Amino acid sequence: MEISTPRLTLRAFGSADAPALHRAFIESEVHLRPWIRLPDALPSLETLEARLARFQAWFRADERYHFAVVRRACGSFVGSVILCPDRDEMDLSYWLRHDQTGQGFAMEAVGAVGEVALRRPQTRRLNIFCQRHNFRSARVAARLGFVRAAEAGNIVRWELTRPS
Ligand SMILES: CC(C)(COP(=O)(O)OP(=O)(O)OC[C@H]1O[C@@H](n2cnc3c(N)ncnc32)[C@H](O)[C@@H]1OP(=O)(O)O)[C@@H](O)C(=O)NCCC(=O)NCCS
Repeated sequence: MEISTPRLTLRAFGSADAPALHRAFIESEVHLRPWIRLPDALPSLETLEARLARFQAWFRADERYHFAVVRRACGSFVGSVILCPDRDEMDLSYWLRHDQTGQGFAMEAVGAVGEVALRRPQTRRLNIFCQRHNFRSARVAARLGFVRAAEAGNIVRWELTRPS
């Protein structure tokens, strides 16, 4: 499954993306670490290659979709959107390289994946789980029409239900 938007291509990660992902983690660590789960020591290139092979296998098996988000025009790496099916729900998560923020890429990418996810007949609801103080992520969710549905501790669940 490949998704095109006006400025972006979203496609399955391949092992060849490992260097771009490795660079993104190193260069964006300070921006990402407060909000996404990263190990204390960032993964090595070899570890990432193995992980991307796993992501690819999950993608092919329709278990979970780790999309690489790249610029349509030049193929440069922008970030990632992850879609996890869970019965009749699907959970969305996402991140951008620090230097790709503030341009609407998250909205464009997450919105496009959300649309595809809602076309799956069994999908009743999309969720975004977001830390309470992650205002930038909350803004992406709200602008895409997600509503704050529940809170547990530090985590807020945003949801978008299938239009009837
Ligand atoms: C969450 C995250 C993806 C949001 O990134 P973002 O750049 O704020 O979101 P978008 O890419 O949708 O960009 C929106 C901004 O671009 C601006 N923008 C500029 N050009 C734009 C365009 N052509 N179209 C739309 N928006 C545009 C918007 O005005 C908006 O800025 P504002 O919020 O200050 O008004 C990013 O902050 C991130 O990677 N955070 C770390 C990881 C993380 O928190 N992930 C979520 C875990 S729940």
